[in-house]
Amino acid sequence: KQQVLIAPSLLAANFLELGKEVEMVNRSEADWFHLDVMDGRFVPNISYGLPVIAQIKKAARKPCDVHLMIEEPEKYADAFQKAGADILTVHAEACIHLHRNIQQIKGLGMKAGVALNPHTPVNVLENIIGDIDVVLVMSVNPGFGGQAFIPQTYHKIAQVRDMIQQQGAHALIEVDGGVTLDNAAALIKAGADVLVAGSFVFSAANPENTIHLLKEANR
Ligand code: DX5
Ligand code: ZN
Repeated sequence: KQQVLIAPSLLAANFLELGKEVEMVNRSEADWFHLDVMDGRFVPNISYGLPVIAQIKKAARKPCDVHLMIEEPEKYADAFQKAGADILTVHAEACIHLHRNIQQIKGLGMKAGVALNPHTPVNVLENIIGDIDVVLVMSVNPGFGGQAFIPQTYHKIAQVRDMIQQQGAHALIEVDGGVTLDNAAALIKAGADVLVAGSFVFSAANPENTIHLLKEANR
């Protein structure tokens, strides 16, 4: 199995020093920039949006993994592509026509991800798993950084992994929320391909080394 990918979430970055934070991620062993977009409707919080992502994209030397926690994401897929999203992830719960939304994202030349809230059963992916590039398993309820990891996530990762195997699909399994060095190795063992980490990285005394430690978690 390929080494785990690390996607630091800039939600926990110091926005007054955003350029320096982006440079730190560029320098580090991180693989993707994880960018959380919240609309105050799908989730009870508002983060940042298109102009901020467009600026990050100019400085980023790694793919931008944009996690849309918004209603009607189909209205904005084109704008996020133009702002620089390489991977665009929508929530299954926010999409009445999820299959169409995935085709739209891929048609715009981006990789397509689907995120699942903690309560959403994995079987909603059964008929589209072969069409998507990323399954984003939420290990907290979306909306805030710094929340406690939900342990049922391990079982859910295993369910997604089994579905991918059974169908011969290629989607990566990404885990988002409450990821630390206490659970990273177990998450990788359960089948996670990508770990998102926000507060654990950016609150650390040495964020660059913390990314290194996450990258090495299953060694
Ligand atoms: C939560 C976001 C996460 C968040 C993770 O709604 O999707 O990406 O930034 O933050 P931590 O790692 O602090 O739980
Ligand atoms: Zn996220």
